[in-house]
Amino acid sequence: MNPVSNQAYLEAARFISSRSKVSPKIALVLGSGLNPLADRLERVDSFQFTDIPHFPPTTVEGHVGRMVLGELEGVPVLVMQGRYHYYEGYSMQQVTFPVRVMKLLGVEVLVLTNAAGALNPDFRPGDLMLISDHINIPGMAGHNPLRGPNDESFGPRFPDMSHAYDPELRKLALEEAERQGLPVHQGVYVSVAGPSFETPAEVRFLRIIGGDAVGMSTAPETIVAVHSGMKVLGISGISNAAPDSSAKETTHEEVLEAGKVIAPRMLSLLGGALPKIARILGLEAG
Ligand code: HPA
Repeated sequence: MNPVSNQAYLEAARFISSRSKVSPKIALVLGSGLNPLADRLERVDSFQFTDIPHFPPTTVEGHVGRMVLGELEGVPVLVMQGRYHYYEGYSMQQVTFPVRVMKLLGVEVLVLTNAAGALNPDFRPGDLMLISDHINIPGMAGHNPLRGPNDESFGPRFPDMSHAYDPELRKLALEEAERQGLPVHQGVYVSVAGPSFETPAEVRFLRIIGGDAVGMSTAPETIVAVHSGMKVLGISGISNAAPDSSAKETTHEEVLEAGKVIAPRMLSLLGGALPKIARILGLEAG
């Protein structure tokens, strides 16, 4: 059963559009430690998640729980400072609620950022990884956000996921990262439910199945975005080596600390890539 009604998405979207003149075409979801990105916006309207109808409160340290609408380098954007995670106790429909609200607001491109542990031994904390594909472990085990009656007004019952992370957006981001000399990789993001970090045996398993980085978000939001026809760019900030038997313990503090190195790199990449994406897709303020 889908506990979220169509009416709820509409009420949240109406609340936002009646209070902001910004018509966002690109939305950004900021993961742990990446909040400073929103400080770069101009002509800002902001809402606490708790003020928006049907948005639950976030419970994670490092997630502000605010939606900011404004312009980044002349591009109208919607920024989520924080997101919902399955491990907080929300349903997958609640976790992905804001994505459908963005769709109703007219968003066409969704940029999902996250902090992730490296599975690939070539990755270092502070590196960026453009997500080329995902493995959604909870989804494959039945916790897919599209489970339940399909709302045809958003998309089809059986949506294709063969190009879930838009190749053109990824190419633009890669070119921009290389132009700026930022350390960047491409790879497969494995989404797990959390909140416990992986055991060394789980890390070995995730490497064997083809994962390059592991985190506790993003794949559900991607699925709901792609279902409704949005293009997705996913970027992981590598915060730690996933805990194999040779590594030291992994902590949330370490993840937030790495965010201090990742945030300026992510900011620089997005600041450079978003105007190009907007220009090529014709999404500038008009
Ligand atoms: N595992 C899962 N999620 C994460 C990690 C990790 O090592 N680092 C940041 N988010």
